[in-house]
Amino acid sequence: MVEFQPAFSTGLGAVYNTDCLNLLASLRTESIDTVFADPPFNIGKDYGNGSDKDLLHHDDYLEWCFGWIDDCIRVLKPGGAFFIYHLPQQAFRLANFLESREMYFRHWIALSMKGTFPRGRKLYPAHYALLYFTKGEPATFNRVRLPIPTCRHCGKDIKDYGGHRKCLNPLGLNLTDFWDDTSPARHRKFKARWHINELKPMIPGRCIEFSTNEGDFVLDPFGGGGSTFEAAQNLNRHWVGTELVDCSLIRDRFHRNLPHVREELPEALRGLLINPNPNLSLQPRPCLRSLKKSTMTEPKHALNGSGSPLLLTRSSQPLQGSR
Ligand SMILES: C[S@@+](CC[C@H](N)C(=O)[O-])C[C@H]1O[C@@H](n2cnc3c(N)ncnc32)[C@H](O)[C@@H]1O
Repeated sequence: MVEFQPAFSTGLGAVYNTDCLNLLASLRTESIDTVFADPPFNIGKDYGNGSDKDLLHHDDYLEWCFGWIDDCIRVLKPGGAFFIYHLPQQAFRLANFLESREMYFRHWIALSMKGTFPRGRKLYPAHYALLYFTKGEPATFNRVRLPIPTCRHCGKDIKDYGGHRKCLNPLGLNLTDFWDDTSPARHRKFKARWHINELKPMIPGRCIEFSTNEGDFVLDPFGGGGSTFEAAQNLNRHWVGTELVDCSLIRDRFHRNLPHVREELPEALRGLLINPNPNLSLQPRPCLRSLKKSTMTEPKHALNGSGSPLLLTRSSQPLQGSR
């Protein structure tokens, strides 16, 4: 049986260089407090393994999503939170599926999308969707407050709050479901992997902050440049995840942004694994739904981590949106 050891780990978390289905199949049922997922959007983006991997036929893409979503629901604790970042034209389908799995809808958070353009007979797309569902009543909901916005030139408040300024909580404004300060890090200098669309750690950071407490477990199946892992580490949460293409960029990111954090095996993660072992290696077992999905694409690769299950099976129409 193929085993996967962590590609990078700290005292709080570990990331594996393999298909997320391998990690999901290795995790205990109801062991994770929050899942944050920023999957490939299926718009032909090249994450370093070819753009065709991100251009499936629409039905195959959804079937693949439903596979990992089902696995994520299985590993979530009762009351755990599930966040999925996507384009609205896919997010509504994923939301529908989540509801069919008896997940509770909490919010559709709109994050402003900059630098796009209208195509065809459509409106100008100006937001990404961040779905927020819970497995039953939320186990944790911490209030997150943002500083009262001020003008960067004169330092005065930007709004007058209808004359009720003095009634505002001095700790700041309640976080709303519209986030206008989260545009992606576009400049190469600020990104761990400039060719993927890395999120500002603030995005997973807020989700982790309001849905978990210190010491809880956060899972990100699509690690990318490691924004979720950095945010979880900073917030003193345990974290675990996968990245199919290259995890050295996540290690680089930690060395650059968190140089005081040592590389070590996180003991607490042992409790998450179905088959715990000293190296924290994964010994994946096929999940039912993953297995069904993998026979549709590439059975050998889907379970051994040597390739992506996101394979082009039929022709596909790219969706409107950017990565
Ligand atoms: C949109 S990026 C995630 C970016 C990440 N949220 C960040 O802020 O850095 C999606 C990532 O998922 C990875 N990926 C695609 N299919 C995967 C799979 N089956 N298992 C694990 N990772 C996968 C891609 O290589 C890509 O890096």
